[in-house]
This record gives sequence, C-alpha cells and structure tokens, in this order.
Amino acid sequence: MLDRIDIIQGNIAAFEADAVLNAANKSLLGGGGVDGAIHYAAGPELLEECRTLGGCETGEAKITGGYNLPAKYVIHTPGPIWKGGDRNEDALLAASYRNCLALAAEHGIKTIAFPSISTGAYAFPVDRAAKIALTTVRDVLAAGSSVERVTFVCYTRADLAAYRKAFSALVESR
Ligand code: APR
Repeated sequence: MLDRIDIIQGNIAAFEADAVLNAANKSLLGGGGVDGAIHYAAGPELLEECRTLGGCETGEAKITGGYNLPAKYVIHTPGPIWKGGDRNEDALLAASYRNCLALAAEHGIKTIAFPSISTGAYAFPVDRAAKIALTTVRDVLAAGSSVERVTFVCYTRADLAAYRKAFSALVESR
C-alpha cells in the first residue's frame, strides 16, 4: 500500500490530480494558506459553489468542482485546531483524511493530493500530524479503497522532512 503514496514538495494549487484537498475552515468561505492558494488559483466560481454547501464540521468533508485548477475536484475539510492534544484532535485529524478518501472513492477519483492538514494556522504539531495522516491513508488504501494514488504535497522543507520521516517509520514497521 505504501507504494501508492508519494511525498513531494510543492504548491498543491498547481498539482495535477483528479482532486486536491483543501485545508479549509468550517465556513468553507476561504482563508489563507492552502485555502487562500486554492481559491486564488481556482477563481471566484469556487467560492460561489462553496457558498451553497452550508459549511462543514471539523473532520467532515465536502466536494466541489476544481474550476481553473488543474484538478477536476476540490475536497474541502476543516481539520482540528490544536488545543494541546486532549480535545480529540488526533481522531478528528484522522477523520478528515478518512472522510476525504471516502468521498473521493464515491466520485470515482483515482488520484488525490493532500496538504498537511491543520499544521499551519491550526498549529497541530507536524510530526504528530504526519504520523496520523500517513497511517490513516495507508489503512484506508489497505482496506480496499478505489483511490489508486495519494500524493502529499508539502510546502516547506520542514513539512517535507516530517512526512518523509513518518513514511520511513511506516516502511520499517512493515
Ligand atoms: N500548497 C501546499 N501546502 C501549503 C500551501 C500550498 N500552497 N500553503 C500552505 N501550505 C501548508 C502549510 O505550510 C501548512 O503546513 O499547508 C499546511 C496547512 O496550513 P494552513 O493552510 O494554515 O491550514 P491549517 O493549518 O489546516 O489551517 C486552516 O487556515 O487558511 C486558513 O481558512 C483556513 O481557517 C483555515 C485555517
């Protein structure tokens, strides 16, 4: 399963995949970071469609068109805001990845790109988030998901190092 996961450095808004994931907030009405980059590249029609969705709960996921993005779809998920680790943050982060993959499979999406959800403005520790993200994606793929390839698109060298370290740990634990 791990051979279906790639980890690269780049800008997710420019990545070619069937779908890209947006690290959104519960309003789904845009923001900074990944959210800002995706809305900027997709154009105003993305926000128009988001306005019809009625927001999204933390850990849940909703899907829209990709508009001017290279990706055909955007899957939006609000990850958890880090509050010290005893507010169910780990489970909510895993739920974001799991629900995004479930929604992707429902739409026949074969390739999807993920940013590092919650590790920017939402301050989730990146090493801890990387472990949760990669373990969850591995488990969903191993359970028979129709998604064929998952790419983690890390923006900073620090994120890239954290995801590669977590990936190596999974490879060693096989
Ligand atoms: N491509 C890929 N990754 C990116 C990009 C990009 N263009 N821009 C930022 N990142 C990385 C950051 O380096 C960080 O590691 O995405 C990770 C998530 O950071 P945020 O975008 O701040 O997302 P998050 O921590 O989930 O906070 C979400 O921020 O932008 C607002 O509206 C959003 O309120 C929501 C909150």
